[in-house]
Amino acid sequence: MSPSQSIKSISFLQNLLLSLLLLTIHYPLHAEKEHSTASPHKKSHHMKMKHGGGHHAGGHHGAITKGIEKFPTISYTDNKSMRDIQRPALPSMQGDPIKGKQLANSKGRCLSCHIMGAEFDQAGNVGPNLSNYANLGRSRDYSFQQIWDARAHKPNTLMPPLGTNGLLSAHEVMHLIAYLETLNTPVAAPARPQIDSPNYYVAGEDLTLADIYIEEGQALFNKLGKNGQSCASCHTSNNAKGPDLKNIATSYPKYDHELDKIMLIETRNNHCRQKYTNSHPYKLGSRSSNTLSAYVKYLSRNTPIKIVANTHTKEALRRGEQSFYKKTGQLSFSCANCHVDAANKWLRGQALSSIQAEGKHRHTAATWPKHFVALHDLGLIGLQQRIRHCQIVTQTYPQNLGSDEYIDMELYITSLANGLPMQAPTKSKPRGAE
Ligand code: HEC
Ligand code: HEC
Ligand code: HEC
Repeated sequence: MSPSQSIKSISFLQNLLLSLLLLTIHYPLHAEKEHSTASPHKKSHHMKMKHGGGHHAGGHHGAITKGIEKFPTISYTDNKSMRDIQRPALPSMQGDPIKGKQLANSKGRCLSCHIMGAEFDQAGNVGPNLSNYANLGRSRDYSFQQIWDARAHKPNTLMPPLGTNGLLSAHEVMHLIAYLETLNTPVAAPARPQIDSPNYYVAGEDLTLADIYIEEGQALFNKLGKNGQSCASCHTSNNAKGPDLKNIATSYPKYDHELDKIMLIETRNNHCRQKYTNSHPYKLGSRSSNTLSAYVKYLSRNTPIKIVANTHTKEALRRGEQSFYKKTGQLSFSCANCHVDAANKWLRGQALSSIQAEGKHRHTAATWPKHFVALHDLGLIGLQQRIRHCQIVTQTYPQNLGSDEYIDMELYITSLANGLPMQAPTKSKPRGAE
């Protein structure tokens, strides 16, 4: 490793630690200790890469926070609604600014969205800079209502109703106010890197990483099933038994007439595995499922995504869109709150991807599966695993991989990438000031 590479790796590790995102505070860090220092940059060649699946139903390492099932989800059978706005009376107690500062950097999650004291690195900018809040002349009651339930001041706020939804007690809010009352020195926004290229993986070693997954998927494509047939037996261009798979992945998820349902590329691959190679289906989210789909998508590389809205997909697209805009979970976020309203802003150390039909940097669905590094290296994960991950860390009770809700969501999100070139597989963007 060259000195510049090792410096890069060190700053990468620092960033992983720095960006101990407040929103990911519920991760059980213990079980993942040995993974958390694995930099994909260094080890891509020789290590046996980890995979995103096989840990439990969703292939996710994090724990689902207890109690979040009481809040609305995107489940089609769920008719729970958001709690009404609460406006409690201002408590008379005096808060402790030291405790408030701790809360701001822990369960209050304030730094995910707000710059506060100068000592905090990588504060986000989804909300206004609060470093000079003490000089703004806001009343205590105003501050209390804002933190307890920001909807009291702005019904469609992005700030979670922290008091109403049971994330902070009235005493804790008073501690936070006491801390806010000490903030009287403007702090500049942290320097941020340019991370808007859809081509991260093309740079240097990252291509190697994608290549490893493609090769692994190709090996599965060539592997003989119990009946002596492989995918390649029928799907090579000089073989008439099956269609050429070049560019077919660009229209998935796709309605299948014979099966009369919307198929993911993963479930379509599985269908052929069962029907034509006499093999068991790969579990969604497993390494085999992800690498095989990475390979089949790679056969479409650089070809524009083209999801069609027709009589068979119209309803699913509509449902997917509805879920995307639905406020869910204890933090009361919709996907759109982060990926449309706050797109391209920073949630602490992470730049929020834009998932919308127009605008900059909207390359999302075309780049999955992706080698994903959160607090630890999760290996190659699929789009639905990423969606599930977003739900878990934002405290929404998640769906299972392959559920109707996630299929419709994947269809909708992929349709927003229409016209963009297929890039899969790729790697997740770096965090923080890399
Ligand atoms: C997900 C992002 C998010 C989080 C987390 C968040 N806020 Fe906010 N906050 C906002 C936004 C956006 C606004 C702008 C006003 C609005 O939309 O409600 C705001 C406004 C405020 C204001 C009013 C500022 C003013 O000038 O009047 C205060 C005070 C505040 N937040 C404090 C906090 C505190 C304290 C925490 C942590 C307990 C916190 N916020 C957590 C997004 C957030
Ligand atoms: C015995 C031949 C055969 C084998 C083996 C086979 N397939 Fe197929 N495949 C077909 C045929 C024929 C179709 C067209 C639809 C149908 O009849 O099911 C198809 C369709 C597909 C499609 C959908 C194409 C489209 O236009 O949307 C995909 C994706 C696919 N196969 C992937 C695979 C994969 C991955 C494997 C290996 C696990 C595989 N197939 C193994 C014959 C085969
Ligand atoms: C509180 C903010 C927040 C909410 C709410 C949220 N996400 Fe995310 N999401 C993130 C962050 C942070 C990342 C990692 C940085 C990035 O790429 O945006 C991310 C990444 C993603 C990505 C990968 C982007 C890429 O191409 O690498 C997808 C896809 C995604 N989210 C979908 C969803 C969906 C669907 C929902 C709703 C179920 C959702 N997110 C809800 C914060 C959020």
